Amino acid sequence: MEFLDDLGIKGTLPGAYAGRWLETQGEVLSVESPVTGLEIARVRQASADDYEQVVTAARDAFLRWREVPAPKRGDYIRRMGNALRRKKEALGSLISWEMGKILEEGRGEVQEAIDVSDFAVGLSRQLYGLTIASEREQHSMRETWHPLGPVGVITAFNFPAAVWAWNSTVALACGDSVLWKPSQKTPLTAIAMTRIVAPVLEEDGLGALVSLVVGGRNPLGNAMLHDDRLPLISATGSCKMGKTVNEVVGGRLGRTLLELGGNNGLIVLADADLDLALRAIVFGAVGTSGQRCTTTRRLFVERSVAGEVKDRIVRAYESVRIGNPLDPETLMGPLVDRSAVDAMQAAIGTILEQGGEVVYGGHRLELDSPLKGGAFVEPCLVRAKPGMPIIQEETFAPILYLIEVDSFDEALEHHNAVRQGLSSSLFTNNVRHAERFLSAVGSDCGIANVNLGTSGAEIGGAFGGEKDTGGGRESGSDSWKAYMRRQTSTINWGDQLPLAQGIRFGD
Ligand code: UN1
Repeated sequence: MEFLDDLGIKGTLPGAYAGRWLETQGEVLSVESPVTGLEIARVRQASADDYEQVVTAARDAFLRWREVPAPKRGDYIRRMGNALRRKKEALGSLISWEMGKILEEGRGEVQEAIDVSDFAVGLSRQLYGLTIASEREQHSMRETWHPLGPVGVITAFNFPAAVWAWNSTVALACGDSVLWKPSQKTPLTAIAMTRIVAPVLEEDGLGALVSLVVGGRNPLGNAMLHDDRLPLISATGSCKMGKTVNEVVGGRLGRTLLELGGNNGLIVLADADLDLALRAIVFGAVGTSGQRCTTTRRLFVERSVAGEVKDRIVRAYESVRIGNPLDPETLMGPLVDRSAVDAMQAAIGTILEQGGEVVYGGHRLELDSPLKGGAFVEPCLVRAKPGMPIIQEETFAPILYLIEVDSFDEALEHHNAVRQGLSSSLFTNNVRHAERFLSAVGSDCGIANVNLGTSGAEIGGAFGGEKDTGGGRESGSDSWKAYMRRQTSTINWGDQLPLAQGIRFGD
């Protein structure tokens, strides 16, 4: 476990950073690896008083940072990204060990953080506004974007590094500071990330731009939601959690950026390239042990090829190596913890009650020492009917529902008939079907792909979804606008005061 030494993850670590590590006063949290069930390290969490110190520091840092020219802000972000580059291997291993995804995916996640850093560096020279033609003589009009304030970022366990990076690198380019509350299941990755990037900012007394508090909803999460000093809360997690965030932050007229549950569908038409489809299905359903927001959960297959697709998935599942995620041979690591295994087992019970048929897997696995205490399961393929209520829910586990359909129309109708709207895919070689899927009457999701899977988005696009997924967009494209405030300005460079709409007032 050299990476733990390399990253300084040992003993009891302080769970709050405000430009310096605080001597936190909260309860001690034991962080266990889902691979072995054994403790990796402990974190002394942040108390309400610690939070107060952190948010004050984040606000002070913001007041200085907003005056730094954006391209200079980009220069800091470049150096932060380079610091992550140097630690990619160790950080990827820690992610793998702390939450269970295989090392290749752990590395991929750090790469995603590096990529979005590069994106934010470029963005720091492209915070474009508009000029608009004024209806009045000798007047000009423009729209500019200004920093917003400290941004509260609440992240989930499944992407313990990348989702913070999407938010923080873009927010920093925009002139904001960030106050991060990571999942209590993955605080070590958050501490390691902060330790890696903060020194770049500390050189100039700006460390609190990347503030951190480790702890639960009480007192920390609630404090953030109610805190007027955080004009934007960006939250990733379940739809239920997102509704609470929306209500509380909306109640104070704060802004939210929500990236909530997905229930992603993949449609395979009879004319599809099945080799491509199969690879995408298996990566989409089994990758990160089915715990991505973008995981493929519902598979709609045209009846004439359904038997072949089912058999090929079963063959692929039989060959998936399940075990230690740091072992390069492993394709599927454990779930995040044993309670996730219980939730998966309960969901399979409900599936059977509702008339679903387990075609493959789904069992809890007891592997030999040293993996004996790990949270291992087999991936599960279910033959399902579209009316089963459980299909409406996102079970955060590798359960794939296979539903046979008679036509593209039928597939599309079922596809859009869930509450969530994050990611979607169609496999076809028919350009008409492909274009229709991406049209206004096609997929209703924030992400719609053709001939590739539902997961594994690049950072350059806007990431997020519709309906109960929350409507937020993070990462690339123009997502940066969520992290800034817009100002419309009109300048009168003449010696008259004409009123808009031609109104004459007292003249
Ligand atoms: C998530 O699961 O919250 O598209 C994020 C993907 C990754 C990000 C997933 N780039 O699967």
